Amino acid sequence: MAQTYEEMDAIALLKADHRKVEEIFEAFEAATSRAKKQTLAEQACLELKVHTAIEEEVFYPACRGKIEDDLLDEAYVEHDGAKQLINEIEAGGPEDDFYDAKVKVLSEMIEHHVEEEEKRSEGMFAQARDAGLDMDALADEMRNHKAVAMERYGAGAPAETRTLSGDDVESAKADEVLSPGA
Ligand SMILES: [Fe+2]
Ligand SMILES: [Fe+2]
Repeated sequence: MAQTYEEMDAIALLKADHRKVEEIFEAFEAATSRAKKQTLAEQACLELKVHTAIEEEVFYPACRGKIEDDLLDEAYVEHDGAKQLINEIEAGGPEDDFYDAKVKVLSEMIEHHVEEEEKRSEGMFAQARDAGLDMDALADEMRNHKAVAMERYGAGAPAETRTLSGDDVESAKADEVLSPGA
């Protein structure tokens, strides 16, 4: 029997998010009307903003020092690349030039990033599992953070980057929780 959301451990929960976003991107590819495309693109953006937030606020900080540093640093930068496109997509619409291209490229960036997280043995999740992190405690923490992130992003807050020029890069290095709207 499939696990319920409440029963999932941290990795199952993050993987469930990944599958959900992949489904939305697939539906976007198949959609023909502008209205449908916009709805799906915005759904994917919201899911990704919430997902990257719970990873950056809970999962990645728990991994720091316990798995390869490079892998974590790259994950933050990959999130930021995705967030730039997310903010672009959310600010625009299907009538814009390059809208479909932006969604497609975002889906490809996410596909690569998800592979880095889920890859067998040397992927981030595998390393975190091997490091003996408490996946049940982390899942509870992420469920709590998810509710808060859903509220702030559902209300339209843009995604915040951490590692790009102009950003307070110390927040990523210190794995800090970003305060909403600050
Ligand atoms: Fe991630
Ligand atoms: Fe992820």
